[in-house]
Amino acid sequence: MIVLSGIKPTGRPHLGNYLAMLRPIVELQDQADLSYVFIADYHALTTVRDGEQLRQDTIDMALDFLAIGLDPEKSILYRQSDLPELHELAWLLTVLCPMGLLERCVAFKDAKEKFGDKGEKILHGLFAYPVLMAADILSVQSTHVPVGRDQIQHVEVTRDLVNKFHHHFCKGRENAVFTLPEATVRSDVAVVPGLDGRKMSKSYNNTIGLFETPKKARKLMNKIVTDSKSIEDPKDPDTCKVFELYKLFANEEQQAELAARYRAGGMGYGEAKGALFEVFDAHVTPFREKREALAQDLDAVEDILLAGAARARAALRTTLDKARDAVGLSTSPSSSPSS
Ligand code: ADP
Ligand code: TRP
Repeated sequence: MIVLSGIKPTGRPHLGNYLAMLRPIVELQDQADLSYVFIADYHALTTVRDGEQLRQDTIDMALDFLAIGLDPEKSILYRQSDLPELHELAWLLTVLCPMGLLERCVAFKDAKEKFGDKGEKILHGLFAYPVLMAADILSVQSTHVPVGRDQIQHVEVTRDLVNKFHHHFCKGRENAVFTLPEATVRSDVAVVPGLDGRKMSKSYNNTIGLFETPKKARKLMNKIVTDSKSIEDPKDPDTCKVFELYKLFANEEQQAELAARYRAGGMGYGEAKGALFEVFDAHVTPFREKREALAQDLDAVEDILLAGAARARAALRTTLDKARDAVGLSTSPSSSPSS
């Protein structure tokens, strides 16, 4: 099992990102034969226009991963832009990629809904980014790609492109150049609710940051929407967003205990929110401490990223050599790396 996942450095991770993406990725490092984790700064450029900010967010994301337990001995952590050959691989896929496949992707459909048919408003980078994502996935021959539900579609695009590539360039031989990857989604945390009850998302402005200060986290949790039942009323934990979040941090015993208090009545939502804060805070305090320590030595973080990039790049070069050979390009440039 070769696992690969990437996350865009576009601001600090919220609980949706953490529970659905970051935590599962870190958990997989113990099961995978190889685990690649990268910070998708090329992808961030589809929206980010502030270079300093991007550099800062990229380092912050590396710190976040290390703070929550990503172990660079077990996971290969790197910055996407340290692998410039990804764009070459993306081109070899682009030439086979039907426009229709990309037109069906949600990010493009959303942009089209927003801007209508005004071609000048929808950027080519946004349209084409599933192909770069396919290059990320295929570069290291990953077999499993842990993603949120909204990203499954892009793994499907990747699979389509693998089949097309093998069909056109390898006489249909499976695995001739690329491994067919699979998306893996954690069904228990498929959609983490935000403060307003909708999916937690930066675009809805309803997020709780993973590295929020305790004071701010407490304040935000107090804003989670609930129904208007009074303290005395029995309440249904199964329909309550506070409880939904609580479950993601609490152990089974804690969950059963709080659920019983919901059902019994006599507990207000304010108290449930306090309980949520407690389990959240206990969970993230060690992360905060680790992050602070790591931030004291950014050179060491940079070394981790560069060492990771060297390993990922070597795997990418092997894949690229095979792909160049299959399509009939010269194989000499990529066989003499000039890093
Ligand atoms: P946002 O919606 O805040 O812009 P991103 O699109 O950057 O978040 O999400 C990065 C990753 O985190 C994606 O794989 C996405 O599926 C996952 N993710 C984001 N928000 C949630 C959520 N509320 N619940 C589950 N997964 C989420
Ligand atoms: N597109 C993903 C997102 O928006 C990030 C990403 C880029 C990714 N390349 C990837 C995720 C490869 C998994 C595998 O969240």
